[in-house]
Amino acid sequence: AHQWRGVIREYADRLPMLAGAPVVTLGEGGTPLIHAEHLSELVGAEVHIKYEGMNPTGSFKDRGMTAAISLAAKAGAKAVVCASTGNTSASAAAYATKAGMTCAVLVPDGRIALGKLSQAIAVGATLLQVDGNFDDCLTVARKLAESYPVELVNSVNPARIEGQKTAAFEVIDVLGDAPDIHLLPVGNAGNITAYWKGYREATDSAHGTPIATKTPAMWGFQAEGAAPIVKGHPVDDPDTIATAIRIGNPASWQQAEAAREQSGGLIDAVTDEQILTAHRLLSSTEGIFVEPGSAASIAGLLLQHERGAIPAGARIVCTVTGHGLKDPQWALKAADGSDIVPTQISVDAVSAARELGLES
Ligand code: F0G
Repeated sequence: AHQWRGVIREYADRLPMLAGAPVVTLGEGGTPLIHAEHLSELVGAEVHIKYEGMNPTGSFKDRGMTAAISLAAKAGAKAVVCASTGNTSASAAAYATKAGMTCAVLVPDGRIALGKLSQAIAVGATLLQVDGNFDDCLTVARKLAESYPVELVNSVNPARIEGQKTAAFEVIDVLGDAPDIHLLPVGNAGNITAYWKGYREATDSAHGTPIATKTPAMWGFQAEGAAPIVKGHPVDDPDTIATAIRIGNPASWQQAEAAREQSGGLIDAVTDEQILTAHRLLSSTEGIFVEPGSAASIAGLLLQHERGAIPAGARIVCTVTGHGLKDPQWALKAADGSDIVPTQISVDAVSAARELGLES
């Protein structure tokens, strides 16, 4: 029987940075690319969803973390540190534990989803809640790694980008070529940097046998209240219900702009309302449950459709970055903001049938 072996082993020939490192893996990658029939019809294109919530800790971060922790292990590291809005901490903590390392995570006080917090604590990370936002946490994490014997595993660590670029290879492997347009949420801007690197390398014989004939336009979306790249300046007090991407000064800002320019793409903002609408639409029409930040790519697709900017029949991939169970509370709110509560019935099939409209 065959089992997916994780991104380092599956793409060893395209990850020279990892050569000779012990492989620390939880079987990440190999996530489904799902043809989204309803969204396709809605926008008049061929839309596919790259469902990154299906990674071992429930987000795309695992692709980068297998690489970062494997290289840290090769270097003999005993401890790692990261700043996080939640998913990076859950992932770093899991891979560090797998490798027998300790992990410290710096998170913004009170602004990380409960699912993510629980994950990091469950696998034994030391969690430090910082009286500040993500950008402050990253500043502290960088200083810690500079002055003490701990390895920084945020996406400023090149191994993270290297691992995360494998998502582009998987898309190409399934579609047979790169899509025309690739949409994704943008926070600290590591992922758009990684996808763009992957797509470029896939067409370049200097990086192995080319597997694609073209590169897609990269369309990135920030949350309106945390959209420094769109606004052209850092945002001091970023705010959005999409806590995953609540970031005011992205570390990979320049790389994200390079991806936009080189790919002929764009980086734009979507409001919290647009994010929540997209979040509901994705689960109620496609059956795909994601955390709000993930739905920024879908909100971006809908926004571009409203503007008439989706080329008819274009082949489109939207990455949805994290699982809905990370931050499930949003599913229990209706569009008007009211609470959705289950209907209560007695132990009785006829009452159930009545509620289901099968009995009058
Ligand atoms: N989507 C989710 C679910 C995320 O957790 C993140 C980033 C992003 C999108 C944005 O990706 O930063 O590469 O542009 N989360 C980081 C964290 C910041 O700490 O978990 P990016």
